[in-house]
Amino acid sequence: MSKLLEGKVAVITGAGGGIGREHALYFGKEGAKVVVNDLGGDRSGGGKGGEMADKVVAEIKAAGGDAVANYDSVSTREGADGVVWSALAKYGRLDILVNNAGILRDRTLVNMSDSDWNLVQEVHLKGTFLCMQAAARTFKVQGKGGRIVNTTSYSGLIGNFGQGNYAAAKAGIYGLTRTGALEFARMGVTVNAVAPVALTRMTEDLAMFKGIAPEKIGPQFISPVVAFLASDLSADVTGTIVGVQGGKVHVYRMEMSEGATKDRPWTPAELKEQWASIISGTAASTAIKL
Ligand code: NAI
Repeated sequence: MSKLLEGKVAVITGAGGGIGREHALYFGKEGAKVVVNDLGGDRSGGGKGGEMADKVVAEIKAAGGDAVANYDSVSTREGADGVVWSALAKYGRLDILVNNAGILRDRTLVNMSDSDWNLVQEVHLKGTFLCMQAAARTFKVQGKGGRIVNTTSYSGLIGNFGQGNYAAAKAGIYGLTRTGALEFARMGVTVNAVAPVALTRMTEDLAMFKGIAPEKIGPQFISPVVAFLASDLSADVTGTIVGVQGGKVHVYRMEMSEGATKDRPWTPAELKEQWASIISGTAASTAIKL
């Protein structure tokens, strides 16, 4: 039986540990040639090194797969281009980009420093944009097809106390995913995102994971979903945000309410009076109609 990703060339960012490492191992087992990108720093973006990516490459090879390491930071243009270039230099093409690299610098909004804000935007939001752009330019030159899977978060989609910088970046990735899906459709490229919940170094101190066995909430639940979104099985799935948490898989959707209409500007008093009808119901379509 042929493997799900046989012959595909995949770049996975932040694949030296946590969820990204699991993606890389899973993709390798499913026959993909994998560029294992990782800057090799700590959870908050400090430090760097090649050891993390090298270890994952060795694991993939030991299991009979094919992989190459890349140590660039996704947050700079040279870095993002370098990650995609690794795929082209080693394997001659690119089929799949999984944007997974990330850091955390949790602070409440009143205590947030410029550097805590900036670094989180640079790694998550700018890094996702730069890698998407480098991959899309490559897909365009190659002809038809390509897969992009981004990584967003409950925090950005719903909101989370103490994570204003991270939530804003992850909400931005939602917007990039939706817009990329529209812009790249004509190239036959799908763009989706996962919103994972998994026990890793990023989440190990969260109270919600206390008392749950790692095998019930580990990254191993996330990677098959990402592999599906990266495969030929999902050609008709794009612009979709897939939540995965242990064995539960669901989607996140942005809704518009039905609303209420007047043929003149509303007064604040009318808004107060009719607020309940403005916020109730769900519109059948999210298209803007004037
Ligand atoms: P992790 O900290 O284990 O993995 C992140 C990896 O990204 C690390 O190996 C790190 O070295 C790498 N990285 C950081 N900055 C980089 C850069 N500039 N360039 C290249 N690589 C870089 O964390 P985890 O949990 O595996 O996170 C993976 C992704 O999933 C992140 O985007 C995170 O925000 C997201 N996520 C994770 C959740 C969870 O429950 N673990 C929840 C929601 C989202």
